Amino acid sequence: MTNFEYYTPTRVVFGKDSEKKTGELVKEYGATKVLIHYGGESAKKSGLLDRICASLEEAGVSYVLLGGVVPNPRLSLVHKGMELVRKEGADFLLAVGGGSVIDSAKAIGYGVYNNCDPWLFYSKQAQAKGCLPVAAVLTIAAAGSEMSDSSVITNEDGWLKRGYNSNYCRCKFAVMNPELTYTLPPYQTASGCVDIMMHTMERYFTHETHTELTDGICEALLRTVMHNARILKENPFDYDARAEVMWAGSLSHNGLTGCGTVGDWASHQIEHELGGMFDVAHGAGLAAIWGSWARYVCEENTDRFAQFAVRVMGVPETDGSAKDLAQKGICAMEDFYRSIDMPTSLAELGIHPTDAQIQELAEKCVFFGKRTIGNFKVLNGEDVAKIYQKSR
Ligand code: NZQ
Ligand code: ZN
Repeated sequence: MTNFEYYTPTRVVFGKDSEKKTGELVKEYGATKVLIHYGGESAKKSGLLDRICASLEEAGVSYVLLGGVVPNPRLSLVHKGMELVRKEGADFLLAVGGGSVIDSAKAIGYGVYNNCDPWLFYSKQAQAKGCLPVAAVLTIAAAGSEMSDSSVITNEDGWLKRGYNSNYCRCKFAVMNPELTYTLPPYQTASGCVDIMMHTMERYFTHETHTELTDGICEALLRTVMHNARILKENPFDYDARAEVMWAGSLSHNGLTGCGTVGDWASHQIEHELGGMFDVAHGAGLAAIWGSWARYVCEENTDRFAQFAVRVMGVPETDGSAKDLAQKGICAMEDFYRSIDMPTSLAELGIHPTDAQIQELAEKCVFFGKRTIGNFKVLNGEDVAKIYQKSR
């Protein structure tokens, strides 16, 4: 087990009707004027936005609204949000939505607090010294941004999708009512489940040993999400399944599943380029490339993949050598993706990158030769291009 810090300062307010507490919560955290940030139509259509506004009014907290966040959130809207926050004197950012809205709010918070273009942080040219306070009312279980130290933004200039991590952006509180996710289209529910699982799998595929407790937490989380994803495919209104998945989403990306291990994160880096170039749903993109990544790196530690196969995917331990088990585990995960209508190739994801585009994706992914990605197996641009090729 490697040394680690575990820091999860976000207050979780979970359960039915929890959004009614939002006004009191922002007041408790000292907000005088709130920027309520949201996405497209979903929060308006469901009436959630009106309920949040009413809750703030009841608590006597003024607010200003900014919608329009799209999946793979754009830097241009972040700039617009910064202008609005300055003009209105807002001192608190409330994201009503999913990972995209929360990440956009975090970027606005970085920009205003540090009085600069936040892209400096996402492009690794500078480090933030703080962030305006951010909180979330979560409407989709997926990215885990409500408890993570991360934010991912797409710069339309070059279509670069880049993440930035720091504890400054951690949400002060996260309101999580599983009922708010009933209105999700099945594709978004399934895509979210994949992302949740991947946040744990990125941490689980490690060479670190003596991580018994963390392994057990990871394995239980993965089995729980698979079980409940299947239930939700049949019945999207199953409260308990929504609740299990929502809580798993937060625990999967708040650091818990990585205590004592060294995460890999190559699949995420590989997918982020697809999001930047083709604007695909993040979780679906991960499902499309994971099998190719897994087969490419598996021999680095076959035993680890065999453990995954047996403990997570239910492959019988007696079903062959470690190598056989490892391969069966990868196939079983792909079968699971298919069972919830998630893609297992780029073609199934609906994109057909040319050879030139694959080269461009790979070069962007390794910052034009300035970095490698992954830890389970360290990957350079050539490796990444091969993984994209094999995912076709
Ligand atoms: O814009 P609206 O109309 O709200 O529609 C959204 C959007 O189209 C819809 N949606 C959300 N809640 C809904 C709903 N539709 C009906 N009912 C509801 N209750 O779902 C669509 C996807 O929303 P989005 O916020 O994009 O989803 P998600 O939470 O998956 O976030 C994805 C973004 O987060 C980044 C991804 O790369 C991607 O940009 N990530 C952020 C991370 C972080 N900050 O820690 C980690 C992740 O690995 C990930 O990279
Ligand atoms: Zn993710």
